[in-house]
Amino acid sequence: MFKKGITTILALFLILFFITACSKENTDETGTQDTNTSNNEPAPTESEEPAEDEAIQIPEAGLQKKDSGDMVQVLQEALNHIGYSFEINSSFDETTTWAVTDLQLQHEMQATGVYNEQTKSLLEELLAAGESIKPGAGLPRETEASTTNDGVNILFNPYDQLALVNKQHALPADYVPEDLVVPDILFPFNEDLPKKKMRKVAAVALEKLFQSADEAGLKLYAQSGYRSYDTQVMLFNSYAEKNGEEAANLFSAHPGESEHQSGLTMDVTSSDVDFMLTEDFGETDEGKWLVEHAAEYGFIIRYPKGKEDITEYQYEPWHLRYVGTKAAKAIMSEEITLEEYLESD
Ligand code: DAL
Ligand code: ZN
Repeated sequence: MFKKGITTILALFLILFFITACSKENTDETGTQDTNTSNNEPAPTESEEPAEDEAIQIPEAGLQKKDSGDMVQVLQEALNHIGYSFEINSSFDETTTWAVTDLQLQHEMQATGVYNEQTKSLLEELLAAGESIKPGAGLPRETEASTTNDGVNILFNPYDQLALVNKQHALPADYVPEDLVVPDILFPFNEDLPKKKMRKVAAVALEKLFQSADEAGLKLYAQSGYRSYDTQVMLFNSYAEKNGEEAANLFSAHPGESEHQSGLTMDVTSSDVDFMLTEDFGETDEGKWLVEHAAEYGFIIRYPKGKEDITEYQYEPWHLRYVGTKAAKAIMSEEITLEEYLESD
């Protein structure tokens, strides 16, 4: 009887001890019950940080407009974590491109809208520091679409490396790229003119392209790069006066509609065609080499032969547009235009 009583008390004591131990295991240092921790997980120790920031992942660099999937979703979640608040749709759309560009501009980085290594490092730093940004402080988000007097849509993100500039989409008249530089390449003239310039990202890539052509025994020359809105006004007007507006429209863009204003374009030529911008350039060794190799450096032949109905410009084997290697390789290998690339799913 006495023995049985002792056994019962001992059993009760053990049960009580067990319950107390279990409830301690699930109580964090603030004394509150941690509902997220399962019974099998160890309690956080002093040295471990609270899990909140650790849970925010960021993807590897190399995501850009038109990409989709889990990694884009991870990027969108990370961007929302630092202050953006857009729909998570796993699609690197115009909004995601805007957020990346805005972030780059706010931190005085090369603004391209591409989630590259530099942008990844920045995002990592911001997340680690628990810092938030003010959305739109670098590039205000488009509130309503605006158009030119001719009814052409005006791009609200002219920094986008994949910006589509054509007869339907114009650059803002006051857009002047902030990072124009003169690439270290050959020009068939000596004057220090603005048309020698390109945006840094494109200039660096063009230097590599020229170097590679040189190693292949070919000499490329750069004839015309950046052109301001006002220069395009003068140029188009003079062509229209000389050739008539209809003819001019086939080879010269209206102001705002020229890729030359983006700073991402360079017209190139060679001595075989007397440094002219002529269709014959496409038949030269330099012109043929460009078709094969331009994409390796992120450039496309923007106005190919046979695509005039899409580009609405004549064949221009000399007009190189920088879009980055990912897009350039897809465009050149599929023999499509930037319009087709951007407008396909
Ligand atoms: N020649 C091209 C179309 C331009 O004027 O931009
Ligand atoms: Zn051109």
